[in-house]
Amino acid sequence: PRIAAPADLVLAWYDRHHRDLPWRVSPPMAARGERPDPYRVWLSEVMLQQTTVQAVKAYFALFTGRWPTVTDLAKAETEDVMKSWAGLGYYARARNLKKCAEAVAFEHGGVFPDSEDGLKALPGIGDYTAAAIAAIAFNRRSAVLDGNVERVISRLHAIETPLPAAKAEMRALVAAMTPADRPGDFAQAMMDLGATICTPRRPACALCPLNAACRVLGREDPELYPRKAAK
Ligand code: ADE
Repeated sequence: PRIAAPADLVLAWYDRHHRDLPWRVSPPMAARGERPDPYRVWLSEVMLQQTTVQAVKAYFALFTGRWPTVTDLAKAETEDVMKSWAGLGYYARARNLKKCAEAVAFEHGGVFPDSEDGLKALPGIGDYTAAAIAAIAFNRRSAVLDGNVERVISRLHAIETPLPAAKAEMRALVAAMTPADRPGDFAQAMMDLGATICTPRRPACALCPLNAACRVLGREDPELYPRKAAK
């Protein structure tokens, strides 16, 4: 019998166990070709930097209710945006959020660029955010690497190089693993796997779709990965 590719195992797991989040399109809808609104994907990704999913939900509802499109946000008073952001922290993110909305609305006709490079040229959008939006909103085969994915990939491959030096190796492994047909679902599946199964402490390896392939499980304590450089 054919051995399933790791990406197929991850996607099958995601189809059953994905988290329903307000900025997502469910896997069946995605299978029918529906994509989430790039504005909502961008907004959620910026909010999720340094803030938990649970805390972001209410802010996401507030922002999308007040400013349903990127052009609405671009036209908002900066002070109103800053006030609505209060509590999320890292106020530079809110300032960049407004600048980015203005760039998309006034320089790109309200349409987000659909490539990683195009996205990276916008204010406040770095490597991670560009890859995440390209994959999730535009189904591009971008390698999406956040803290959750770093943990999954470092354990799966027993990567001994410490962070941050290991990032390039990790990104290459994620890129090689990313499937051509469902890259957006795959990126979100890896994040959910890291958030709910392959957790920093006491990972639920018995429930993991990658447990048979994992190079750390059964050999070493998974909590020792990813390796971190001595301080
Ligand atoms: N953390 C950052 N981006 C995320 C996403 N799209 N889904 C779940 N958790 C995330």
